Amino acid sequence: MKDTPHGLIKGEVTGRVNWTDSEFSLQVTADIACYTAGQFTKLALYDDSKNDCGNESRNDSEDESGDDKGEWIRRAYSFVNSPNHALGQQVMEFLIIAVPEGQLSSRLERLQVGDDVYVGKSPAGFMTLDEIPRYTKDLWLLSTGTAIGPFLSLIDEVETQQRFDNVVLVHAVRTPAELVYQDKIQHLEERYQGKFHYVPIVSRENRKDTLRGRIPGLLKSGDLVDAAGIALTTERSFFYLCGNPSMVKDTSAVLNELGYQKHSRRSAGHFNSENYW
Ligand SMILES: Cc1cc2nc3c(=O)[nH]c(=O)nc-3n(C[C@H](O)[C@H](O)[C@H](O)COP(=O)(O)OP(=O)(O)OC[C@H]3O[C@@H](n4cnc5c(N)ncnc54)[C@H](O)[C@@H]3O)c2cc1C
Ligand SMILES: NC(=O)c1ccc[n+]([C@@H]2O[C@H](COP(=O)([O-])OP(=O)(O)OC[C@H]3O[C@@H](n4cnc5c(N)ncnc54)[C@H](OP(=O)(O)O)[C@@H]3O)[C@@H](O)[C@H]2O)c1
Repeated sequence: MKDTPHGLIKGEVTGRVNWTDSEFSLQVTADIACYTAGQFTKLALYDDSKNDCGNESRNDSEDESGDDKGEWIRRAYSFVNSPNHALGQQVMEFLIIAVPEGQLSSRLERLQVGDDVYVGKSPAGFMTLDEIPRYTKDLWLLSTGTAIGPFLSLIDEVETQQRFDNVVLVHAVRTPAELVYQDKIQHLEERYQGKFHYVPIVSRENRKDTLRGRIPGLLKSGDLVDAAGIALTTERSFFYLCGNPSMVKDTSAVLNELGYQKHSRRSAGHFNSENYW
């Protein structure tokens, strides 16, 4: 095993929840710098299984040397828990799906309580409360798959509850079993007293209590707005889009059609996004 590379610190898996055969949450403790709700850090493992036959280095993998054929593999994962939660910032939770043939996620899937995992010391990311323009009264959080994670962190913040009139959490998944964190969502619904609106979408099964389809189509048809019970207006609504890059692209196009513009620090607008790959 090589030395821990710059920017990473050794942590420990202290908890694990299995949601489906391939989706799970890891609770990890590590002495990282403070993070803000909505941000992510890196998780990393050292892979010493490489042989002499090759294995090109990937962008975010390193092989710093010599005869050792191993490499560090690191990827971004969003914090699910609020930085202000009771156990403190060094206890963090990640929601992960094992991507078939995925270099790191398939190895994270094998981690159990007590195992080491390496964590990026410096969290990063701009999908935070500070980046939401002041005009916003209704905050729409549109996610696919594991990208519900950073939104749960944001919604758990007291500032989110106080600042907005309405917070809509849209979670699109393939099957009902991937509608994760139902207890936390129920708790948030109670805490927000009518200001929090959860809209689950299951794309591959018909169900009475969830929408069926994809976020861009349901936004365009008006079904998403009907399910949330909150009107869209350019004066009140701001959107964060997170997860599958195709969803982000297609939803951005629908928002443009509806008269909403991409937001940046330089040019104020109505929506921003984070692609997971
Ligand atoms: C800012 C940010 C935050 C992220 N947060 C999370 C998180 O909280 N939870 C999480 O599970 N993942 C998250 N990801 C994705 C994560 O960083 C990895 O890309 C993912 O775990 C796959 O890594 P891998 O090494 O297993 O796959 P790789 O070997 O790197 O590649 C597998 C290929 O699968 C595709 N792919 C990558 N991620 C996915 C995915 N989630 N679904 C479908 N296809 C994918 C890509 O085309 C990629 O080239 C985040 C990514 C970013 C950029
Ligand atoms: N979810 C599973 O059961 C499962 C099981 C094992 C492994 N995996 C692997 O895990 C990875 C991530 O899977 P995931 O299910 O979390 O994420 P995903 O493939 O991004 O699907 C999540 C949701 O996003 C929707 N979606 C896909 N493309 C879209 C687009 N262009 N616009 C709008 N919505 C879109 C999907 O709808 P559609 O259903 O219409 O595509 C689904 O409702 C994949 O590599 C997958 O192969 C998934």
